Amino acid sequence: MKTTSKPTALVTGGSRGIGAATSRELAARGYRVAVNYFSNREAADQVVKQIEADGGEAFAVQADVHDPRQAAELLERSTVDGRLDVLVCNAGARFTPTPLPRLSWEDFHAKVTNELASVYTLTQQALAVMGAQGGGRIVYVSSAVADGPPTAGMAAHGTAKAALNTFARFVAHEAGSLGINVNVVAPGFVRTEASAGQPQEFQQRLAEHTPLGRVAEPEDVARAIAMLAGEDAGFVTGAVVTVDGGHGVGRR
Ligand SMILES: NC(=O)c1ccc[n+]([C@@H]2O[C@H](COP(=O)([O-])OP(=O)(O)OC[C@H]3O[C@@H](n4cnc5c(N)ncnc54)[C@H](OP(=O)(O)O)[C@@H]3O)[C@@H](O)[C@H]2O)c1
Repeated sequence: MKTTSKPTALVTGGSRGIGAATSRELAARGYRVAVNYFSNREAADQVVKQIEADGGEAFAVQADVHDPRQAAELLERSTVDGRLDVLVCNAGARFTPTPLPRLSWEDFHAKVTNELASVYTLTQQALAVMGAQGGGRIVYVSSAVADGPPTAGMAAHGTAKAALNTFARFVAHEAGSLGINVNVVAPGFVRTEASAGQPQEFQQRLAEHTPLGRVAEPEDVARAIAMLAGEDAGFVTGAVVTVDGGHGVGRR
């Protein structure tokens, strides 16, 4: 990897879906991007190649962010010349929507624990690195489900993402004096491989009930993340930015 004076951004789960779009968006805005992936090396390499073909800089870094030791190593390997300017905690914890009577404690526990594990160590280490360099940006990818009306089978996911939103507020409070802005992006339904199982009719109905008339593409979320990572959001911290085309406004 060649190093330049570009600012550095780490995107967890940066190889597919929302993370891949975010890696591309940040690279296009001048960041050198560490593209984290878990198991699919090919997808990560593809994102890196695409960024390089567009004149940007990126490198792939394998790590399971649910494992504190690997998360710590990931941050270390993504820091270039002792600097990390932006951390995007995008990789969540997989889940299968399950109604409560059939949801085991083990599955509930695993979802909530993994979701928080995927941000905890990275946040701690990022605060140390960013604090020492005089500032930085952290953006967490949550979900509109956390604050929306409860839907069947989503208790574990909603609880995990609500805990993430609350964690982010505490981090924002502690990190402000270090010059670090901490925000959350909360997407509604986004068309990625993870959501591809949802029937076409469901997506159609959702679009019809969305003021902006469609469901989100990963790039819609990526642009909101990049906005929070950039200068225009210099005085924004502790915020949850919902990216759902207005789907939630009818409920509030
Ligand atoms: N899609 C939606 O409708 C939607 C809505 C609201 C919120 N979100 C949130 O948005 C985030 C991204 O979702 P997505 O739909 O873009 O997911 P996705 O398309 O399934 O992509 C998941 C990404 O995360 C990586 N990953 C998975 N487990 C990992 C682990 N343990 N350690 C490191 N990387 C890991 C994957 O890498 P490999 O391919 O190598 O495994 C891949 O790059 C999640 O936090 C999700 O909860 C999604």
